[in-house]
Amino acid sequence: MHRKKILVIDGEPGVRKLCAEILEKEGCHISFASNWIEGINKLEDGNFDLILLDSQVFLQTIRNNLAMTNLSGEKMIETILELDRIIVSLTDLDLLLEKMISIVNNIFLPERIAIYLAEDGNFILRKHISKRYLKEEFPVSYGSEEVSSIFLSRNARITEDKGETITIPLFGKERNIGFITIKFSEGRKTKEEEIKFLEVFATQVGLGIEKVNLFERVKNSYLNSIRALVNALEAKDAYTKGHSEQVAYYSFLIGKRLGLTDGELKILRTASYLHDIGKLGIRDTILLKPGPLNKEEMELVRKHLEIAAKILEPLGLKSEEMNACFYHHERIDGMGYPKGLKNKEIPLFAKILSVADAYSAMISDRPYRKRLTKEEAITELKRCAGEQFDGDIVNVFVKLLKEENEGEEEKHG
Ligand SMILES: [Fe+2]
Repeated sequence: MHRKKILVIDGEPGVRKLCAEILEKEGCHISFASNWIEGINKLEDGNFDLILLDSQVFLQTIRNNLAMTNLSGEKMIETILELDRIIVSLTDLDLLLEKMISIVNNIFLPERIAIYLAEDGNFILRKHISKRYLKEEFPVSYGSEEVSSIFLSRNARITEDKGETITIPLFGKERNIGFITIKFSEGRKTKEEEIKFLEVFATQVGLGIEKVNLFERVKNSYLNSIRALVNALEAKDAYTKGHSEQVAYYSFLIGKRLGLTDGELKILRTASYLHDIGKLGIRDTILLKPGPLNKEEMELVRKHLEIAAKILEPLGLKSEEMNACFYHHERIDGMGYPKGLKNKEIPLFAKILSVADAYSAMISDRPYRKRLTKEEAITELKRCAGEQFDGDIVNVFVKLLKEENEGEEEKHG
């Protein structure tokens, strides 16, 4: 009987082994190829009854061949214009890098793309994307010496190791900002115009990153001015002195314990400093009234959120920062303001701020009441957990406060 000849083309040794085990039992004769090119060579010298393809290899091959003819002059210009629009509209570095990677990915369909940016003398991996079946990780960082040759010219460098890798430097006005590296699958040859396109693209990306960094610096100095202003305003009033700094401190502790990233902690800090900025627009006679507020006065105080939104709007803050400020008086049970949002609808940062804000207010004197002791304030937080405050955040915070207290007792004892 004629033994069926089967060719298996698959990049995974495990898959090839499995095919062998199954098919050899069936009496078939099997040949293997680990990639498409090897597969074609084998096809030429053997009569196969059946070819089994890793569909990923198959799709990639089709995509590669299509992609080679995909980048028309029109498409190049369109893409550069699209990038320009993104650069003009975005003020967030992560978003810019994400868009950039997705543009390159959509056009070239490479195996992987990474972008490294200069930070404290090193080049740090900031964003990357890889085909799912690739296990190998990108190095997290490079020393500047290691990659200095990338910056010798503005041109892209091509290296070959089981497929081409294109590395393109990113230059700012006065310094090397970073580089993009794009790895193509085996057999995919980049054309000259594609390389030229990537070089122009990288120039635009470099400018975009510089713009975002500049914006970030301006924003920070603006925020620092506002922070100084908030401190000055709070200092004028013995009841609120240092309140925002205290809220920032407690929010930070909670956020850190909840495992927030550095970027998220930054958002929380900014929101803490700014959460009550709208009180600038409320009369002192109401803010400092030595007794309970009537309904009308209460309505006016509630306006501090809208006023804050107006003050902060031109700053171009992140939406998370704005939302944390705007929703810090919402309650889990939906009885808060300004929107009456419920539990899951309330942003996490606003929930954290709400607990830190309430605790800071409770442990300080107010015109209409004496301060609560720390123990009393904790009891109050626990009593309102699940209704006013998020129960999990209260638990985390109470635990933190107890640890802090024990630490202090140890110091004094
Ligand atoms: Fe507030």
